[in-house]
Amino acid sequence: MEGDIKKDLIKLYREEFGKAPDIVTSAPGRINLIGEHTDYNQGYVLPIAIDRRTFTAAGKRGGELFIAFSKELGKKTSFEILPGKFEHTNFWVNYIKGACNLLSAQKTIEGTNFAIGSTVPRGSGLSSSAAYVVSIIEAVAYLYGVGLKDIEVPILAQRIENEFIGVQSGIMDPFVAKFAREGSALLIDTKTLEYQYISIPKDCSILVCVTGVKRAIATTEYNKRRQQCQEAGASLSRILGKEVTSLRDVSINELRNAEGEMDRVLYMRALHVVTENDRVVKTSAALMNGNKEFVGDMMLESHMSLCSNFQVSGPELDAYVDIAEPLDGVYGARMTGAGFGGSAICLVDSEAENELAKRIEREYKRRGYENGYVFIARTGCGSRLEKS
Ligand code: GLA
Repeated sequence: MEGDIKKDLIKLYREEFGKAPDIVTSAPGRINLIGEHTDYNQGYVLPIAIDRRTFTAAGKRGGELFIAFSKELGKKTSFEILPGKFEHTNFWVNYIKGACNLLSAQKTIEGTNFAIGSTVPRGSGLSSSAAYVVSIIEAVAYLYGVGLKDIEVPILAQRIENEFIGVQSGIMDPFVAKFAREGSALLIDTKTLEYQYISIPKDCSILVCVTGVKRAIATTEYNKRRQQCQEAGASLSRILGKEVTSLRDVSINELRNAEGEMDRVLYMRALHVVTENDRVVKTSAALMNGNKEFVGDMMLESHMSLCSNFQVSGPELDAYVDIAEPLDGVYGARMTGAGFGGSAICLVDSEAENELAKRIEREYKRRGYENGYVFIARTGCGSRLEKS
């Protein structure tokens, strides 16, 4: 499927711009096995790239005009990068503008043609935007010889989300889109940006359970959670009488001791983050030892905490977990990504993957959620140059 989309995109580029692209790059979507809402608290995360990718075909055109074509949206638009105004109607173009603007601080970026195509489902919590922005950054950087260090790619991508798009997201999604390896999860310490590959046992598979909903409040609520985590940190600083730069600096015992003096909501938010960090560390160790049952237990605990303490789940995500958890062959299930709709994931015995995928989807629909579907995700690799 990925080979086809690359070929189609090159063909489409030729039709749109009358010649072959100079370059094609790609980057993957992801699921997050565990470690949710921890990345903007300098905590641990354990994402996995999936075999769905975004491809960017690009070519120099000279001058100041940029022309971009989105295969999925069937839309073509043009702009000049400076002054780089935000576009509300053509939202997708802002990522390209953001990338060109930030990279032009390092090298002159001239008018460019872009054609972009993707197999990462949009609005499904699978980080289609990081796949998109990472593939664009790399295309522009290769095209104009901007000598970016690998680590600069996710950092730039995060700046684009934060400064151009207005989502105060952390570094997890672009980081995994850049550094992932097939067959492994990526344990990232978002404080030091150190990372480690952890092999996924061969006899288990991941099911992605797409809810078919994306709540309109998702961005506002996401930014609000981030704000609340900062407030919780400030409050803990006062109570504990030590510098808390992020919730990463707080232990479970310290938090429990501060409970009586903290605002209830801030306490719940912090409780999720602090316990989730601990779960990521334990899950990583269990995964290394092939202890899938324990990984599954951690996934369920994570889901419960996201539901009751962090309050970012919803009826559709809860329905998937409720359906999957009791089934034979399912090690664990939880929501993945920011929440408020999006997707849930299940870690399952590979031998039963097809049957379980069908069964979970059927039951989800029977409960009245018409737009949901379940697919088996294979692992993918990080961003790469597809054609130069
Ligand atoms: C979104 C953000 C990430 C992360 C997750 C929640 O995917 O882009 O940075 O915060 O939500 O874990």
